[in-house]
Amino acid sequence: MTGDVVAVVLFILKVYVCQAENVIIGSTKQLVCLNQSGNGWDKFSHGPNMWGIINDGGSYSGSQSNTLTITNFQIEDSGYFRCKVDGNVVAGDNTQLKPEVQASIGTSVILTCTVPGTPLYWYMIGNNGVQTLSDNLEYDGSRTNSLKIRFLTAKTAFIHYCQPIGGMKGPEITVSISGWSSWNAWSACNVECGGGQRERSRTCPGGNCTGRASKNDDCTVVYGVDGRWSAWSTSGICTVSSGGGSQPRVCHCNNPPPDNCGLYCNGKDNDHILCSPSACPVNGGWSAWDSCIVICGNGQQSRRRSCNNPAPQNGLYCQGQGVEYNKCTFPGCQGD
Ligand SMILES: *[C@@H]1O[C@H](CO)[C@@H](O)[C@H](O)[C@H]1NC(C)=O
Ligand SMILES: *[C@@H]1O[C@H](CO)[C@@H](O)[C@H](O)[C@H]1NC(C)=O
Repeated sequence: MTGDVVAVVLFILKVYVCQAENVIIGSTKQLVCLNQSGNGWDKFSHGPNMWGIINDGGSYSGSQSNTLTITNFQIEDSGYFRCKVDGNVVAGDNTQLKPEVQASIGTSVILTCTVPGTPLYWYMIGNNGVQTLSDNLEYDGSRTNSLKIRFLTAKTAFIHYCQPIGGMKGPEITVSISGWSSWNAWSACNVECGGGQRERSRTCPGGNCTGRASKNDDCTVVYGVDGRWSAWSTSGICTVSSGGGSQPRVCHCNNPPPDNCGLYCNGKDNDHILCSPSACPVNGGWSAWDSCIVICGNGQQSRRRSCNNPAPQNGLYCQGQGVEYNKCTFPGCQGD
């Protein structure tokens, strides 16, 4: 009795230190003994729940050598393996082989429960822990020993196992997606304008794909909205030059601005306009004197000039008199 308990404890310890490997269903797996003299193999499986001697036959060969070969690996083949030398277990030689089913995305996958007993449940160990499965859009046969994943997706590509009520847990079956995913959408064209390159990629969730994971293609960014000028706005002051007033004005190519591939506005963004220099004060200036006007009688003569050369504009009126008088004697008037 005590010996059995010790054996179980030792077994559990060994289970925890052993190596675990996933083996793809249908593939070939070879196990090499830690001791080159290995000449026998044992297997511990969940069904009988005990170690049993492996003999050649079926999918097993090399069971009397240090290399055991398992062809067409099936869920039933999962379990713990150890080798022996002349019937003695080789210390530390303990490998767990776990089944893995690879299938393309969208295909159906059937998992078989290899431990005895009904009724049973199927479980999935997903991102949110263990989930009890039931028949729905994703699963069929969730209470039978043959669970069908209707269409494999990233939501169902997780570990699955069966367990009869009150019975032993079946092997954990990893379900993974093989082959390429569908292509992702194209990236944006890598130029702002004109011809460039774009790229798309795909992933290989099962890690066993041939071919390229990404692809390049030519692309063209089509021409968009051309720019248009804003209204003119005057800037600076009206300066007087010989011909008249002149004032700079500017406009901007922002109504709208050209987009990535639109054209810039055509023409000048600055020029000068004629302007009235009224804002600038102009002082008045005298015209030349008129010729003398004679006034008879008192013998007086006068002449005039005008403040119109130039006329004052917001400036000062001309300094001095616009009329000048001179006394004079005009003989022709003397007798009147
Ligand atoms: C292999 O097993 C033989 C027989 O038990 C033993 O003499 C030998 O030391 C072992 N070699 C190794 C590397 O464990
Ligand atoms: C990888 O794919 C090849 C060809 O499809 C196949 O022969 C091989 O067994 C696959 N290997 C694994 C680890 O899935």
